[in-house]
Amino acid sequence: MRGAFFAALLVLLQSSSYVTSADHDSRPNFVLMMVDDLGIGDIGCYGNDTISTPNVDRLAADGVKLSQHLAAAPLCTPSRTAFMTGRYALRAGETSSIQVILFLAGSGGLPPNETTFAKLLQKQGYTTGIVGKWHLGVNCESRNDHCHHPNNHGFDFFYGLPFTNFNDCKPGAGKGVLVDVQEMLWQMSALLALASLTLLAVRASALLRVSWTLAAFLAILSLLGFTAWFVPFELLRTWNCIIMRNGEVVEQPVKLETLSARLMSEAERFVERSVDNRHMNRAGFLLYFC
Ligand SMILES: *[C@@H]1O[C@H](CO)[C@@H](O)[C@H](O)[C@H]1NC(C)=O
Ligand SMILES: *[C@@H]1O[C@H](CO)[C@@H](O)[C@H](O)[C@H]1NC(C)=O
Repeated sequence: MRGAFFAALLVLLQSSSYVTSADHDSRPNFVLMMVDDLGIGDIGCYGNDTISTPNVDRLAADGVKLSQHLAAAPLCTPSRTAFMTGRYALRAGETSSIQVILFLAGSGGLPPNETTFAKLLQKQGYTTGIVGKWHLGVNCESRNDHCHHPNNHGFDFFYGLPFTNFNDCKPGAGKGVLVDVQEMLWQMSALLALASLTLLAVRASALLRVSWTLAAFLAILSLLGFTAWFVPFELLRTWNCIIMRNGEVVEQPVKLETLSARLMSEAERFVERSVDNRHMNRAGFLLYFC
């Protein structure tokens, strides 16, 4: 997992077409977009003239365009933790040796006692939603406690990837998770299998008297090594690359081909529902689109 850089675009939709003049509450709606691997030179309003980004450029022209941004960390999990909380990721237990969540089934993530900007807005009566990538953990102790889940961090609605989009999520795109460990397990298992087969061949050809037990022992070790690779890594796509709608897994593994379009329509539907809520005297909405 090489350096991932984030760009965040903050957009206040103060009196957009979504909100009718019948609303007395003048508090703004918020749309936040978090984009992985977006360089500052990649969009038009920051000077790119080869990639056309008219909608983003218009948002910048109508709003605020910031020219300096520091991510608190160069990797997904800790930088998102800092972004969600306004605190160094270290304070949430994410040290430099545990930089990023690699297995969704792991117990790490954004601690339940942290205060996110979503929690604050939710307390103010906002309808809050996140569509897209989370990568801040799901469970603490058991597979359904959802202690790190967005629904427990101030978001009324979640649709998207509780994990992220590693190479491993796309068939044929190669591997990105603990590649050294994977290669080590493979080589070790292959060597053990080879040694076991050699002993058997030697024994069969009656060249030397070799013990069956040793050959069987090496074969079992080889099998264990192969299993230690297969279960976490070959099945990684099934474990990690899933889509959830709120607390429910709705796709496993994810179909990446259609994901962007689905994220977009989920975001639009969230905004439409939130506008209806607004008519029922909710404060407004926060959409965090990753
Ligand atoms: C626009 O962005 C692309 C993609 O990052 C980059 O290759 C290109 O050089 C950029 N163009 C300018 C003028 O910055
Ligand atoms: C959350 O709990 C942990 C463990 O008790 C503590 O170290 C941390 O400071 C707490 N965080 C906040 C924001 O209170």
